[in-house]
Amino acid sequence: MLSKLFRRKTDFQLTEEGSHSLHKVLSVRDLTLFGIAAIIGAGIFTSVGKACASGGPAVIWLFIICAVACAFAALCYAEFASRIPVSGSAYTYAYATFGELFAWVIGWALLMEYAIGNIYVAFSWSGYFTHLLDGFGLYLPRWMVVDYSSAHKFILAKQGLIDAAMAQGNSGALWIAANCNDAEKELVVAWTTAPNLIGGLKLILDVPALVINILITVLVYRGIKESRNASNAMVILKILAVVMVIAVGAFYIDFENFKPFMPKGFKGVMASVSAVFFTYIGFDAISTLAEESQNPKRDLPRGMFYSLIICTVLYVLVSLVLTGMVPFINLGVDDPLAYALQVKNVKWLEYIVSIIAVVAMASVLLVFQLGQPRIWLSMSRDGLLPSAFSKIHPKYKTPSFSTIITGLAVGVPIIFTNEDFVLDFTSIGTLFAFVLVCGGVLLLPKRELNGDDGFVLPHVHGKFLFPLLVALSATIIYFSVPSYFDDVFDLSKSETFTSFNLPHIIFWLFLICLSVLTFLKNFNLIPLMGLATCGYLLTGMNPNNWYWFFVWFAIGLVIYFVYGYRNSVLNKK
Ligand code: ALA
Repeated sequence: MLSKLFRRKTDFQLTEEGSHSLHKVLSVRDLTLFGIAAIIGAGIFTSVGKACASGGPAVIWLFIICAVACAFAALCYAEFASRIPVSGSAYTYAYATFGELFAWVIGWALLMEYAIGNIYVAFSWSGYFTHLLDGFGLYLPRWMVVDYSSAHKFILAKQGLIDAAMAQGNSGALWIAANCNDAEKELVVAWTTAPNLIGGLKLILDVPALVINILITVLVYRGIKESRNASNAMVILKILAVVMVIAVGAFYIDFENFKPFMPKGFKGVMASVSAVFFTYIGFDAISTLAEESQNPKRDLPRGMFYSLIICTVLYVLVSLVLTGMVPFINLGVDDPLAYALQVKNVKWLEYIVSIIAVVAMASVLLVFQLGQPRIWLSMSRDGLLPSAFSKIHPKYKTPSFSTIITGLAVGVPIIFTNEDFVLDFTSIGTLFAFVLVCGGVLLLPKRELNGDDGFVLPHVHGKFLFPLLVALSATIIYFSVPSYFDDVFDLSKSETFTSFNLPHIIFWLFLICLSVLTFLKNFNLIPLMGLATCGYLLTGMNPNNWYWFFVWFAIGLVIYFVYGYRNSVLNKK
């Protein structure tokens, strides 16, 4: 049984263009634009505000750390993509290296990145879209623009306080006006004006988020060419918006806002790992398009690097400008870019940015909605999912059934979940997938090079260098932040133990084990650095994230053993 769980797939073949294959139309330029389309979206338009409010201006360090982690992961993705240029992304790579069980686990984790990530983007899209409509005087009832879970959670948390204020003869409305910010007031309005359904349930539903999901699903269903054209046009617009915010915002920087630079310490910065890491998610979506690109070996790695480099430069500049324009504490709003411009009274740009944000986030939705069905397609071809998932539409040449299921996987949770939850969930799942990809590269056999190898990951000997780097980092931390190791290893500090320490202890033990293995096996330094940086980012996740991650994980395992294990194509060999 054990050997079956770790059986590996070795015969990876590209499907030739034909009646049942996908269209090979994507060039390196298309792939780069696809990457940017996936990367720049709800993160930089929405979650960055949350990150700045938590970490202060020092959040730019987290942007840089995340960029470094993504760059190492991108190198590993590129190595895999040039060796195994087929649909399926990290799932396929894991199948080649770790074996079937890990492949399934990673495919399951990628569902968190693509489908669950799209739920967050749909919510953010709805936020910008609603505010835009408000600006035009088209005021939709609030119960149809917020999600039930957020409204319910907020009312539950505040009801006692509102009741207490009313018991003292004060007006509930006045209490709300004095104690809630604009976003919270919208939740209260939604709750109090929502139509009642049976059993005391209220009709509160984010309708714009649902509608955009349906529209994107239809577009993706209709075909890759149409999707590509729409995506390329959108991506240019959003680069323009971000560049304009940087160029204009730079004139409004008040250097006083950079003091203090790290108001809540490094812990405050690390508390926003989910929000910052989310902004980078997407470059790996390119690797799901292998079967539709003209020259996957050469173009996939290039597309990933180009898009990652462009986005990193933009993010670092945007985060500097934003935290320079407005005191960090005020940035925790839904639309931080528009908000900063509003504070500085740059009305014309505020308006343009809001319009483009709506367009930009639609393009992110598009790329993720394209990626998810293609992962399912690969899993289905391998027998781990029912054959319907690999059905290609005879006319549109798209994985039609998988596309519809993806639409449902995004649409149904929109009805009952909320933004914060899906943000954390997506980031932890994606980081986990990156860790497995970097680990997978360490296990790849050496390649016989023949001159037409696409991207080849350079081998940097890690034997001495990696253990040395680990020891050096520990020494620098020890002398520059003397309390760090006390905080991590003193288990009596129970408060920090539950919220922060356990992941750190595991992280340092992991680094020590990795150093020993590297010394013995002379692993390549590049994937090792990917493992170390992504592992470090995982230490920023709170226990609640881990709890739900393991629940998700367990559900995935049950499905594998009930279906995939028995129906795997490798079973029949
Ligand atoms: N990076 C993508 C975004 O920010 C997921 O929307």
